[in-house]
Amino acid sequence: MQNKSLIILDDHHQERNDGSEDVIQGLTSDPKSIPCRFFYDDRGSQLFEKICDLPEYYPTRIEAWILNQYAAEIAQFTGNCTLVELGSGSSTKTRILLDAYAKNINANYVNSDNVSSCKYLPIDISDGILKTSVLQLQIHYPQLEICGLSGTYDQALTYLASNLEEPQMIFFLGSSMGNFNQQESDHFFQKISQTLKSGDYFLLGVDLQKSPEILEAAYNDSQGVTADFNLNMLAHLNWYFQGNFDLNLFQHQAIYNQAEAQIEMYLHCQQAHTVSLDILNLEIPFRSGESILTEISRKFDLPTIQAQLLAHRLQPLKVWTDPKNWFALILSQA
Ligand code: TRP
Repeated sequence: MQNKSLIILDDHHQERNDGSEDVIQGLTSDPKSIPCRFFYDDRGSQLFEKICDLPEYYPTRIEAWILNQYAAEIAQFTGNCTLVELGSGSSTKTRILLDAYAKNINANYVNSDNVSSCKYLPIDISDGILKTSVLQLQIHYPQLEICGLSGTYDQALTYLASNLEEPQMIFFLGSSMGNFNQQESDHFFQKISQTLKSGDYFLLGVDLQKSPEILEAAYNDSQGVTADFNLNMLAHLNWYFQGNFDLNLFQHQAIYNQAEAQIEMYLHCQQAHTVSLDILNLEIPFRSGESILTEISRKFDLPTIQAQLLAHRLQPLKVWTDPKNWFALILSQA
């Protein structure tokens, strides 16, 4: 791989699917849905950062606690290798891992003349966030080679499969895995498994099943930040497709569907009306009380997720959790 700071994975920008098809499909189906990529415009990304700091939203804090506790052990397990992060975002938690690997490099430097190198490759769909975090991390970690990959997970994994020769660990934190349905997660594991060479590592952060009260509070916070985040999707659609969603006519709700073991995020329509998205030439009738499904967040149990990893020839080696067993980090080996 060349020595660059940023690699744009699709030169064919016109071919990058802008979501039109999926928006039309979702809003003309019954029940209605909106593709989750519409959460993340600039305001959405800011609101998500705020969600991570909410008292009710425990996953970020607990995952960071586990990383703080065990990053050195993770680095010990894998040894120096290229670190690949899917959906790197602001990379705040990532620094805990990078610190542990950077420490190993510094220690090796003292112990021998053989300076071992380590790369960090963050992958994100949003060029803006990626550039900012790559530039900051390059200053903070001069001993690491850092190169952002801009594109979808699929594009990035395909790229890595044919361009990366050295040992690597791919990591996927924040229980973002839970935002995939079963079919999407099977496809995802398969892709990870095809990308990794035998002996490579995969580190996965998953939110575990727990009482509905705790789960629902995490997605219906008392300050209403999650509600703003959910409603911001409609503002994003208004801006992107010249629409006229009235945000006052929709109400946020997150419920835990125990049978499916998933949080379901909805926007409930408060009164019958019609919305138009001019650029898509679309008129969408809403009934009073009708709901739009905007996101699922699946909650896992360890034996099931470990069996799924194994079924995709990703052998779980070690699981780290917090004392309450609310969240887990699973290290697997291809
Ligand atoms: N991966 C996060 C999760 O499932 C995403 C998330 C947190 C989220 N809060 C949200 C998505 C609210 C939509 C709405 O926990």
